[in-house]
Amino acid sequence: MPYKDLRAFLSTLKEAGELVDITRPIALQYDVAKALAKTSAADGPALLFKDTGTAFPLVGGVYGNRRRALIAFEATDETIHERVTRAIDNPVAPVDLVGPAPCQEIVLTGVDIDLTKLPVPTYSPKDGGPYITAGIVVSEDPDTGIPDIGNYRFQLHDATTLGVFSASNHRFGKNMAKAIQRKVPLHGAIVIGVDPMTMFACQVQSGDRSNDWFVAGGLRGAPVELVQATTSTLKVPAHAEFIIEFVVDTDDQRVEGPLGEYTGYYTPASMKPTAKVTAITHRRDAIFQGLLTGKPITENHVLKQIPFEASMLRQLQAQFPSISDMSITSSGGVQTYIVIAMTPRYEGEARHAILATMASNLHPKWVVVVDPDIDIRKSSEVEWAMSFRVKPREDVFVVDRTATAPLDPYTDGGYSSTVGIDATRPFGVEFPDVSEVPDWRTFDLPEIDKG
Ligand SMILES: Cc1cc2nc3c(=O)[nH]c(=O)nc-3n(C[C@H](O)[C@H](O)[C@H](O)COP(=O)(O)O)c2cc1C
Repeated sequence: MPYKDLRAFLSTLKEAGELVDITRPIALQYDVAKALAKTSAADGPALLFKDTGTAFPLVGGVYGNRRRALIAFEATDETIHERVTRAIDNPVAPVDLVGPAPCQEIVLTGVDIDLTKLPVPTYSPKDGGPYITAGIVVSEDPDTGIPDIGNYRFQLHDATTLGVFSASNHRFGKNMAKAIQRKVPLHGAIVIGVDPMTMFACQVQSGDRSNDWFVAGGLRGAPVELVQATTSTLKVPAHAEFIIEFVVDTDDQRVEGPLGEYTGYYTPASMKPTAKVTAITHRRDAIFQGLLTGKPITENHVLKQIPFEASMLRQLQAQFPSISDMSITSSGGVQTYIVIAMTPRYEGEARHAILATMASNLHPKWVVVVDPDIDIRKSSEVEWAMSFRVKPREDVFVVDRTATAPLDPYTDGGYSSTVGIDATRPFGVEFPDVSEVPDWRTFDLPEIDKG
């Protein structure tokens, strides 16, 4: 059975020693972030801050390492890709919840809306203010009505107003752009505290026409139960902890940022649209969720890596079945540096695979292709391939003026360039054998064998 909601997952984490309660009072400004940074550096547990100075507890670090991600997927490093690709191939339609929705036990509208009563941390003194970082945005394509879910940050401006940031190549940003063009309001809902598969579904690269509730259902192996929001026709996950319903206001632009981001750098402040909150609904004993982002590796990177790798692999294998594996490294922010293992079927296929990867929505800066005997998750192995299977003049090429991630601190506006490296052995040419002492793994050597 999949985890029904966030709290079901939290109880599994607790039993596994992966979640610890913090009962003493903790300051939302900086101290929550310090605690999350410390447990992350120690590869420690997620933290449930019970006394936040508000009416609600706050959980953070839930997806703070790959170990907890694998618990969420109920998989191992060996089974994870197969687990995710099978789910992508088997989407499951959502259903409407029958009966009252837990996420709407309390409904706050009008003068009762007050974002400052929520435990929203400020992560760093340089941040523009408190930030909701662990929210999922539900929005719909104004042309097709297809719903999208994705993780997006929100700066708390005041009791009813949030600052909005979406990259223009992300679906929430595309939905906003279409709404502006059509002069229609864009409704959205920030969903906080959901079952882990719905959270990971946000990061599956599935194209602009996919209905992400089906993707989440596929990952869960069971339908997501939805309920209609209270101030729009959007559907939201019925078992969430909080829903913040809003409408985007592009006329009221305010300074948003800075925020320490997944690149490891602060993104500068700039004028951005706002979200006007139309309702806050939540469970009676709701748990808020926070998440630390910043220099890799943070929760942001853990959330992206498994879904990005599996879904990108699926997309590319449709054209290149010769690709066997893909690593989208944490150190590259799970975006800029992609390593592919493949056995080219014809001369030049590796280069085609590189070009297809460059053109993906990840907008990478480095794409390296190696033979499958290279462990693509070990940088020393990849560097070995780049050292002795590459003639730089022939195998390295740069494509100029490619679109890049808007939060990249070192680009020329919206574009940069992308490097492709074909580090596979030359096609159809004799190449020396890899030197290796035979059968050493099974050689009997009691002097150093353990036990
Ligand atoms: C924790 C977290 C926070 C994120 N915040 C933002 C954000 O504020 N703006 C943005 O454009 N993308 C953000 N992203 C990236 C998008 O959620 C992600 O790339 C998603 O795949 C985009 O959706 P799409 O593929 O449906 O366009 C965030 C990702 C994570 C994991």
